[in-house]
Amino acid sequence: MEYNHNEISAIAEMKISVFFMKVKNICCIGAGYVGGPTMAIIAQKSPEINVTVVDINEKRIAAWNDPDVEKIPIYEPGLSEVVAEARGRNLFFSTDVDAAIDAADMIFISVNTPTKTYGIGKGMAADLKYIELCARQIARVAKNDKIIVEKSTLPVRTAEALKRILDNTGNGVNFQILSNPEFLAEGTAVTDLHKPDRVLIGGDLDTEAGREAIQALVDVYGHWVSDDNILTTNVWSSELSKLTANAFLAQRVSSINAMSELCEVTEADVQEVAKAIGMDSRIGPKFLKASVGFGGSCFQKDILNLVYIAKSFGLNEVADYWEQVILMNDHQKRRFAAKIVKTLFNTVSGKKIALLGWAFKKDTNDTRESAAIYVADYLLNEQAEIVVYDPKVTQEQILADLDYLGTRSEEENRKLISVVNSAQEACEAAHAVAVMTEWDAFKTLDWEAIYEGMLKPAFLFDGRRLLDKEALTAIGFEFYAIGS
Ligand code: NAD
Ligand code: UGA
Repeated sequence: MEYNHNEISAIAEMKISVFFMKVKNICCIGAGYVGGPTMAIIAQKSPEINVTVVDINEKRIAAWNDPDVEKIPIYEPGLSEVVAEARGRNLFFSTDVDAAIDAADMIFISVNTPTKTYGIGKGMAADLKYIELCARQIARVAKNDKIIVEKSTLPVRTAEALKRILDNTGNGVNFQILSNPEFLAEGTAVTDLHKPDRVLIGGDLDTEAGREAIQALVDVYGHWVSDDNILTTNVWSSELSKLTANAFLAQRVSSINAMSELCEVTEADVQEVAKAIGMDSRIGPKFLKASVGFGGSCFQKDILNLVYIAKSFGLNEVADYWEQVILMNDHQKRRFAAKIVKTLFNTVSGKKIALLGWAFKKDTNDTRESAAIYVADYLLNEQAEIVVYDPKVTQEQILADLDYLGTRSEEENRKLISVVNSAQEACEAAHAVAVMTEWDAFKTLDWEAIYEGMLKPAFLFDGRRLLDKEALTAIGFEFYAIGS
């Protein structure tokens, strides 16, 4: 059965609610890339609602509370301003999870849901242990009715498991479970949250309590999002829509990347091809930028999860179809690294290669699944010496990313890779430079000075189609860009 918001409002107003129709206290479990920015915007736009973001990671919470708002743990353009406006007024960060659960009418679960690294579904299924821990903690602590909102990305039908845990281990209070997946992209989180294409809310549309819970969340977003952009569905459609959206987005990147390889052998240019197809209004121009491969914490994990779900229903063709998106992405990262080796006369052993950028995209300090990690690892296996510069990523993070792969000892990684404070320094005396992240600042570097400081021939590999080929070739670089 489908209702629009006005109908839901009308039905809800006619009944006496067991839930608070007007939410006064929100708790969000998980102060990460989603929980932090999402709650900051809710608090900014809803001054009468108290929003408390909790996390078991004390260091992270301390950083969110740092008096110097520029030191909050997540770099996102515009985020520090939002936090400065709301923090201490109606936005709070705390490690006291029990207290925040107890006080809340509505609890967002925004914890991580990584790919399983053990047991059944290893390397594919989503690891839901953090979600289950939250559910059990909520059940133990809650003394009054609460609305639980799945904000994390979850396999379809997770709400069912959550409900069973809450109802069977709780203190006899009522829980309504909503799915409200987040579609923000890192680097543009604040604008995405201020002006979302849509807010998706899945709930139990068939019961009065379910519709009331949906309305309570619609009202929260209603502070700044118009009704037309708030979509309500059943819970399962909402859960599956999130995985589907990420799969479609990643598929576009893998599709254009597949074409980039074909362009390279046919003298077509992938940027021209992308423009030509993107002007077809049925295809559209976005997400057609060829690259060294997509990264980020979610595309890969969510597609693997989708593949796992399809397989577990025996839908092997569906699973294989989506798995190809990942295989293509792995190929793209490998072939970019292989191209560097081949171009540098089939050996990079002992050669200095500068990587510009380590984050998985510009305007974020997030490095999860960044293509740079895998390209660096490949080149290190070929005994290259790697020097990295990224404007927002720390040396500690870069080394941790490489150590996590477990390809070689921590000691060896520290011997072979160094991290410096400027692009110019990274490129000094390098045999080759590779652009791994499309930071705007890389476009306006003093490329002539960089060329002067490099060994000749000076090779430049643009993994992001960021730089002006003609200008750089005129300076003297041997220039290679993905897809041309
Ligand atoms: P994250 O790792 O940055 O943050 C998760 C936080 O949850 C961590 O700080 C962790 O300490 C905390 N946590 C885990 N278990 C906890 C517990 N029991 N109690 C309290 N805190 C706990 O992850 P993220 O990037 O914010 O992603 C969170 C979810 O949102 C994932 O399911 C992800 O798929 C989804 N998502 C992420 C993005 C994104 O851009 N990063 C966008 C949309 C959706
Ligand atoms: C992505 C989705 O865009 C969000 O809607 C979703 O909420 C989020 O995943 C999530 O679930 O975590 P995000 O990973 O932050 O957001 O960033 P994107 O802009 O989607 O970029 C992902 C990767 O694809 C980056 O490495 C980026 O450089 C690459 N990319 C993107 C391309 O190579 N080409 C493109 O045309 C677009």
